[in-house]
Amino acid sequence: MTIRIAQMSYLEACVAIDAPNFNIFDREKRRKHFLYMIPREMMLVLEMDSRIVAYSTFDSDWFGTTFLKLVVTDEAFRRQGLASKLIGYIEANHCPSGKFFSSTEADNEPSIHMHIRHGFKESGWLDNLPQPHREIFYFKPTASQ
Ligand SMILES: CC(C)(COP(=O)(O)OP(=O)(O)OC[C@H]1O[C@@H](n2cnc3c(N)ncnc32)[C@H](O)[C@@H]1OP(=O)(O)O)[C@@H](O)C(=O)NCCC(=O)NCCS
Repeated sequence: MTIRIAQMSYLEACVAIDAPNFNIFDREKRRKHFLYMIPREMMLVLEMDSRIVAYSTFDSDWFGTTFLKLVVTDEAFRRQGLASKLIGYIEANHCPSGKFFSSTEADNEPSIHMHIRHGFKESGWLDNLPQPHREIFYFKPTASQ
């Protein structure tokens, strides 16, 4: 298992992860997101047996802190600790401020459990986004680098 900064050559493999759960517009939104994050080195991929099975995007200059924007694991590889590996990697390598924020939609049970499991505590919410449910924010202090 290897975690590395994503390169443009991984783009379609990342778009394909979770693609069956998305319509074409959402898939294009993801592609656009990756096209922004990859050149800025704000995206990680997790590779197993030469296959990209999970990825994460993050911003390490969000109000001077790190924000976990997205973490996704291929459906066939969930509950094997892969998202946890990516979160741990960001914590250890991309959290220079010692402050780690994240967010998730209020109906996303797996993601809510994942945040709690990683020691995140709720830190407010945001309504009025273009999505059905409120976005819940999470915070976790980390050892500053
Ligand atoms: C949320 C998601 C990233 C978790 O990925 P994963 O690789 O399966 O996560 P892990 O195996 O590292 O699980 C870590 C912890 O999260 C929690 N968790 C993960 N999936 C869960 C589920 N379906 N139900 C309940 N808890 C869950 C558990 O506490 C788990 O620890 P445990 O297995 O020791 O109990 C994955 O379900 C996914 O890709 N979902 C779609 C995209 C998404 O919603 N991303 C999060 C928004 S940023």
